[in-house]
Amino acid sequence: METTKEVRLLRRPTGIPNPSDFEIRESPLPPLDDGEVRLRSILLSVDPYLRPLIGKAEAIGQIVPGSGLAQIEESRAKGFREGDLVRHFGGLRDKMNMPVAGLTRFSRRPELSLTTQLHALGGIGLCAYGGLIGTGQLKAGHQVFVSAAAGAVGSLAVQIAKLKGCYVVGSASTPEKSDWIVRELGADRSISYRSQPVAESLKAAMPKGIDLYFDNVGGDHLDAALPLMNQFGRIAVCGMISSYADDKPGVKNLAEIIYRRVNIQGFGFTDFDELQVPFEREMSQWITSGQLKFFDTVLGGIERAPEALIGLFTGRNIGKMLIQVSNETV
Ligand SMILES: NC(=O)c1ccc[n+]([C@@H]2O[C@H](COP(=O)([O-])OP(=O)(O)OC[C@H]3O[C@@H](n4cnc5c(N)ncnc54)[C@H](OP(=O)(O)O)[C@@H]3O)[C@@H](O)[C@H]2O)c1
Repeated sequence: METTKEVRLLRRPTGIPNPSDFEIRESPLPPLDDGEVRLRSILLSVDPYLRPLIGKAEAIGQIVPGSGLAQIEESRAKGFREGDLVRHFGGLRDKMNMPVAGLTRFSRRPELSLTTQLHALGGIGLCAYGGLIGTGQLKAGHQVFVSAAAGAVGSLAVQIAKLKGCYVVGSASTPEKSDWIVRELGADRSISYRSQPVAESLKAAMPKGIDLYFDNVGGDHLDAALPLMNQFGRIAVCGMISSYADDKPGVKNLAEIIYRRVNIQGFGFTDFDELQVPFEREMSQWITSGQLKFFDTVLGGIERAPEALIGLFTGRNIGKMLIQVSNETV
């Protein structure tokens, strides 16, 4: 019988997850039902939002959720053929039987790497572009701060803000990552939050204040940005990773929202339908001309999925964290 290797949650993680919170289990795959396809995973996406999901009681014992790109190995669904590529939300596993209702077809663009097409031109790219241009109302000359700037969304947000003519500062954990943000992404300055308190280093790096803060972190980063906001500045809240692993660092400077007339707005990458056309046009042009680079950290093998997920919270990744399950060139 066909089998699958799947990542299951053994216990509710406390704080940053631990490898022993997970197990890799080999399970039988039943024959396909009508309307189903059998998928062979190529890439699995490992994302920060998984941490709150695996913190829920009902997640214990279940396959860790997640999305990915897969190839159809066998089909009992009309219109879906063996060899077709699809995107799914079937969890962290190397093979799966799925009804086709939740699948999205994927046509490979041979001039792009798979990971670039999936993420820079997909949800991650739209998140960076829409968060800056839609939610953040980015204009040339703005003073922009991007937190978690060496990560998937952050590294694109820094480059887009630079391409739009802004002064850009990025933050990351270590001096190595912080140097990389300037060297590889072209940021004007960067700060390393493990080397110095964020409030001090951010103030020094942004002498003209902040017009737009693209927040991936929340907590101490948001607290440090608030007193530096320029009048009527905007905070586009993409994520708050510092609070996902149970720890909920307080934000003390919220009164600055009033003094500085700050607009704070959260968003999801699905909010930007009206920006889809300019997003695809500008991102494709920046990528093909080499003006914008997409970075990823790809770990090989489903067995490494727990390590990848933990790595998001210890800062192991540069760019998008992915698991490669197959041998294809990605
Ligand atoms: N709104 C949406 O639709 C949407 C979509 C995708 C992602 N997001 C959010 O966007 C943010 C970035 O997501 P991503 O997929 O691009 O992940 P990512 O930035 O590639 O990876 C997470 C990064 O966060 C940093 N980090 C982890 N714990 C931290 C802490 N306590 N304080 C400061 N930095 C910390 C780490 O970098 P360092 O080494 O620099 O610490 C790590 O590399 C997340 O908050 C995520 O939830 C939102």
